[in-house]
Amino acid sequence: MAASGVKFGEKILFGVFALIGVFAIVSFVMLEVLRSRSDKPLYPTTTHYDFSAAGLHGSALFRDKGCTACHRAVQSGTNMGLDLDGIGSKRSLQYLQDFLINPEATYPAKTIDHGFSPKAAAYVTKIPVADLQAIATFLSELRATQGSADARLPVPERSGFVDEMVKVWAPDNWKSEHQDVREEAKTGNKEEQRGAGAK
Ligand code: HEC
Repeated sequence: MAASGVKFGEKILFGVFALIGVFAIVSFVMLEVLRSRSDKPLYPTTTHYDFSAAGLHGSALFRDKGCTACHRAVQSGTNMGLDLDGIGSKRSLQYLQDFLINPEATYPAKTIDHGFSPKAAAYVTKIPVADLQAIATFLSELRATQGSADARLPVPERSGFVDEMVKVWAPDNWKSEHQDVREEAKTGNKEEQRGAGAK
């Protein structure tokens, strides 16, 4: 099957691939130039931290104990795993300690990596409890701005749209059987709001 030269269809196909490649490279360069010239960050930062001494110790352990192989926090670690920035606004210190020491009994769903061996992060439960407590303290100090994607609580302002949706869709017994998380957001854990509107 001796093919002489490149067929017309192949030329079009390769041409399209080349165009996509050029487009990607040009876009990337433009984005990088824009980013380096601009004094504002490209995206607003919605996670923040203010570490205690124990939290700082925990952050060193977090890196030393291999957590960054699967997780990302405070700009270190892998992008492929679970991002733990802001987790302290979602989970309590007690929960984080319990999870690290006894993941399968604590996690609300089936775990994939944490738990008993041969799960990949089974080694975590073997780390000395004092170290796990320091890591939990570190994690609890990773906060998210209230209302951002990583936060548990919604924005403190009332939304007319959400009110309307609740009126239309929530069953009558909803108020008596469940707690409205927005009430909690209003009375507000001030801690959750720290850094709101941060640059
Ligand atoms: C092999 C990959 C892997 C390693 C290593 C790993 N984790 Fe995880 N981690 C996961 C996965 C996957 C989940 C989601 C829960 C699950 O399926 O096990 C998770 C969940 C978590 C959570 C979230 C729990 C929650 O309820 O939201 C915390 C906190 C956590 N890991 C901390 C750690 C710490 C601290 C270390 C290091 C001591 C560590 N992880 C090491 C994969 C890993």
